[in-house]
Amino acid sequence: MNNTTVPELGRNIRSQFLFEPDYISLNHGSYGSIPKMLLPVLHDLRMKSEVNPDRWLRREMFTEIDKNRNTIANLVHADPQELVFVFNAMTGINTVARSLPLEAGDKILYFNTAYNSVESTIKFVKNYDKIKLVKIDLAYPMSDIEVLDLIEETIEKENQKNDGAIKVCFMDAISSVPAVLFPFESAIQLVRKHNILSMVDGAHAIGKLGNTNK
Ligand SMILES: Cc1ncc(COP(=O)(O)O)c(C=O)c1O
Repeated sequence: MNNTTVPELGRNIRSQFLFEPDYISLNHGSYGSIPKMLLPVLHDLRMKSEVNPDRWLRREMFTEIDKNRNTIANLVHADPQELVFVFNAMTGINTVARSLPLEAGDKILYFNTAYNSVESTIKFVKNYDKIKLVKIDLAYPMSDIEVLDLIEETIEKENQKNDGAIKVCFMDAISSVPAVLFPFESAIQLVRKHNILSMVDGAHAIGKLGNTNK
């Protein structure tokens, strides 16, 4: 495997990891492991920091971050200037959710399929900013059209109440429970028509959505 080959997933890629022979990884989303080929890279970076923390943290680290930022930006079709590294998905989601310019009475739209920690973050924002939550219950199996219709219907119903505007919609790219691909690209366009921002939880998206991954 080199930098340009896309490895086949499943059994074929198992040898690239350090897993014990009888360990069957059914869920690489919750607790994952990094490929063997990255361990020396990780060690080298760690050593660069350990041998001269000042040089690393004040100068060298930034070049390395920029190099990696460009690589990832290319992978996810983003502007490198708009891409930042976070420790994990929840750090990113909390950072954005707690920075939203919300006012008392505003509403957040979200789905019953939100990851439990994401729902906890939404509830924290609700109490902190005195906003209202509008939860859409998705009862799968549902087609993408049915999901989009339900979003549209809910927004229209909420708008008729005249009791605060929906400012942001939290959605998944791929939900974890159940494991489904959410029509996030169409949903972003739909909510944008109503002046609603989108917060997409892409925890499982990179590497799975191929060229459509934006
Ligand atoms: C859909 C979804 N969002 C967010 C997370 C949280 O990811 P992390 O623990 O890496 O922050 C997970 C973890 O499984 C997830 O499945």
